[in-house]
Amino acid sequence: MRVRFEIKRYNPEVDKAPYFQSYDVELEEIDRVLDGLNEIRWRLDGTLAFRRSCEHGICGSDAMRINGRNRLACKTLIREVGDHVRVEPILGFPVLRDLIIDQDRFFRHYRSVLPYLINDDPPPARERLQSPKERARFDDTTKCILCAACTTACPSAWADESFVGPAAIVQAHRFIFDSRDQGAKERLARLSGRDGAWACRTIYNCTQACPRDIQVTRAIAEVKRAAILRGP
Ligand code: FES
Repeated sequence: MRVRFEIKRYNPEVDKAPYFQSYDVELEEIDRVLDGLNEIRWRLDGTLAFRRSCEHGICGSDAMRINGRNRLACKTLIREVGDHVRVEPILGFPVLRDLIIDQDRFFRHYRSVLPYLINDDPPPARERLQSPKERARFDDTTKCILCAACTTACPSAWADESFVGPAAIVQAHRFIFDSRDQGAKERLARLSGRDGAWACRTIYNCTQACPRDIQVTRAIAEVKRAAILRGP
């Protein structure tokens, strides 16, 4: 089938403003939007810029707005979006070029929640044990691939650049509820400020946007509750 791609282009070195450019590509219904973008870059227009790496929904690098919704291009089939595909960069961050956004702020917020295991006890001979029930407590938030689809769908994050954003809170949740971790107090102190979990207005855009079906809003609510019960 012939698919019309309308892609938002912007090269700050030469363009005064963003504009849409159209391309027609022959694709199968079971091809992905990423296949169409690759086809355009490889055969029609080598100047088109976008990120992708694993091409299988693991690395999180190809989140973009596809027909108005945040999605991973590598996980979106042509049959889901039809023969007219509008592709734009995800919102709320500076565009470096075409579909590539500047992720510095996103990863700065991510690092601020200490997204790694903190445990000052001497390491055991083999591993830090955990029951299946303890592991299940944070299973949902281990699925996050840091694609930024949730944070860039969040009106609170659009309005306030200091808001740490849903993805960073999901990452904090993954460790706060890990029975082997000892850093919850520090993380909850970070998330108890005005730019932390309380900046979330429970809009649910993040949950709808997550390509891994993580219950993002519920995770944020659990972090808010932990901040009240265990925080500073
Ligand atoms: S390219 Fe890795 S998630 Fe799509």
